[in-house]
Amino acid sequence: MTDHRKILVTSALPYANGSIHLGHLVEYIQTDIWVRQQKMMGHECHYMCADDTHGTPIMISARNQGITPEALIEAVHAEHYRDFQDFLVEFDNYYTTNSPENKLLAEMVYLAVKEKGHIAQRDIEQMYCPEDAMFLPDRMIRGKCPKCGAEDQYGDACEICSATYDPTDLVEAHCSLCGTAPETRTSTHYFFKLGDFQEQLESWIDGDHVQPEVRSKIKEWFEGGLKDWDISRDAPYFGFKIPGTDDKYFYVWLDAPIGYMASTMNWCERTGRNFDDFWRSDDCEIVHFIGKDILYFHTLFWPAMLMGADLQTPDKVYVHGFLTVNGKKMSKSRGTFISAREYLEHLNPEALRYYYACKLNARVEDIDLNLFDFVTRVNSDVANQFINLGSRTMSFLSKRLDGRLGPMDEAGIELMEALEDGAREIAGFYDQREYSKAMRRLIELAHAANQFVANQAPWAAIKEDPEKARAICTAGVNAFGKLAVLLTPVMPQLAAKVQALLNREVTSFEAVFERLEEGTVKPFEPIFEKLEEEAVMGMVEASTKRSEETPEEEAYEVDDLTETVSYDDFVKVDLRVAEILEAEGVPKANKLLKIKVSLGPLGTRTIFAGIKKSHDPAKLIGRKIVVAANLAPRQMKFGLSEGMLLAAGPGGEDVFLLGVEEKAKPGMRVN
Ligand code: 2FM
Ligand code: ZN
Repeated sequence: MTDHRKILVTSALPYANGSIHLGHLVEYIQTDIWVRQQKMMGHECHYMCADDTHGTPIMISARNQGITPEALIEAVHAEHYRDFQDFLVEFDNYYTTNSPENKLLAEMVYLAVKEKGHIAQRDIEQMYCPEDAMFLPDRMIRGKCPKCGAEDQYGDACEICSATYDPTDLVEAHCSLCGTAPETRTSTHYFFKLGDFQEQLESWIDGDHVQPEVRSKIKEWFEGGLKDWDISRDAPYFGFKIPGTDDKYFYVWLDAPIGYMASTMNWCERTGRNFDDFWRSDDCEIVHFIGKDILYFHTLFWPAMLMGADLQTPDKVYVHGFLTVNGKKMSKSRGTFISAREYLEHLNPEALRYYYACKLNARVEDIDLNLFDFVTRVNSDVANQFINLGSRTMSFLSKRLDGRLGPMDEAGIELMEALEDGAREIAGFYDQREYSKAMRRLIELAHAANQFVANQAPWAAIKEDPEKARAICTAGVNAFGKLAVLLTPVMPQLAAKVQALLNREVTSFEAVFERLEEGTVKPFEPIFEKLEEEAVMGMVEASTKRSEETPEEEAYEVDDLTETVSYDDFVKVDLRVAEILEAEGVPKANKLLKIKVSLGPLGTRTIFAGIKKSHDPAKLIGRKIVVAANLAPRQMKFGLSEGMLLAAGPGGEDVFLLGVEEKAKPGMRVN
């Protein structure tokens, strides 16, 4: 085991104005796995987090709901905490940034940097809504994009053409709350002089604190020069007042990361520890897990503030990528913008933890949750490999050999040694955040143990030599127990159930080296239910339904339009005019119609399409539409689908088929 470490770990603080969703969970699960493993290795590791509660959106959202911001953040705190608990994300402290500790620390950091001359004060011009009597953040100003003319774009960037601009450039700019045209007003703002820290930051970046790809990104920012950072906002604002002012507040991003310290301080108060042992001590490693979107804040502003206040700078900032679902950005209309609660209502949280672990590595790559692969992967790895090993050996042992373990023979010991070597390797992978490698190795070991049992065939051995059969099953049961130790950081509840069957409780990684050759084990019982595709479909359906029921949320989403495909790629898709010959509902499927189309000389195709809610099958017959004719056929539960209809719309009752004029002949090429 490596030397004892003292580690303080954080995940980004989620905003208190929305629910936790599967995208957020990538980070909390990634961090929680790491923390659990460090704890199992015997290190002193503490996981701090909190809700990020300040800022204009939270203030407006509370106002819209007719409640105070305090009431809103309290309710959201409870919801977030419950979601995390149900996903087995185990914080040592889950606090809030709207706390006395955070106020104290934010003021302390601000006054320390001010004292040293790192705060500048100057007047700036900003958009102001006279109707709402407030300055408007860029995201609350809407208008036409000055570049492409797209309607209803934000004040900072166009979602259609990706142009970035100042809110004053927007055409027909208006306040998103009341529609009034904003006016320009002058106000005094406070700035943190980031440039004062350039040298210190440059040497921090050259230390081993961030991943290589992150380091090169930050170096690009250095080349562009570090600009002063506006850390103040005018009243009305939900946040902390800046000391020495009457109506200026700290910008939410100033006090958010300070929330990491405030959570630590609150935990120290609760548990009788000393704050300085963590944030003013060289022997505590501070480790932040964050997403790539908040890199600038965590690798420039945050370390600079800590440097200015003589506090401990982060040892590691570990950055992960975004989550896509089925290869695409999460989308409400596709039903893939799934909240933590929606998932929990349909599926097992540990299954998601396992799948994310299979996908995560130490790089800043996006990870994809493919919902069908998810079901297959979890069932084949966890159920068919891992659980199967325990089920076959433990059941045999309890039914035929009184559940009693016995000494292992040479072959069994060899298997133990292979598992123990693998365990050391897996511990290293966890520490390096190479969870996908850890899971691959773990399943290889489970496979090897299953092979061992199959080759040694205790069911045959028992006829001649029951003690040989006992030795084989003992090795199998031990392998099961060892693999459960290795799986603990990812699937802690399942692993604990396994250990309970072996009559033990495991809290340390050292348990992986124990060999059980005496005593009895409990009879095996089912401890893991296979995932059902229907449950996944039910979840997606429920999520789609929710997005349809909340129309104030975006009616449709604009995917990233900056990605292009080449002409050559486009023509690979064979788009053809098709005439609908037959259409009928698929029994037991809520959304599916089975449609037969004619492609003229190219023959007919059967296509399953999710348009039952929007189309009466009888009225479809004879319509000329467009289909993708050369899509690889896909085996669905209800039959083979040999193409795809082209349609627009968010789903449900709003699906609009792409039609062609009557004169077009079936089979004509469209692209
Ligand atoms: O991006 C976000 O969701 C922020 N609420 C993260 C804050 S992290 C930390 F700095 F507080
Ligand atoms: Zn307004």
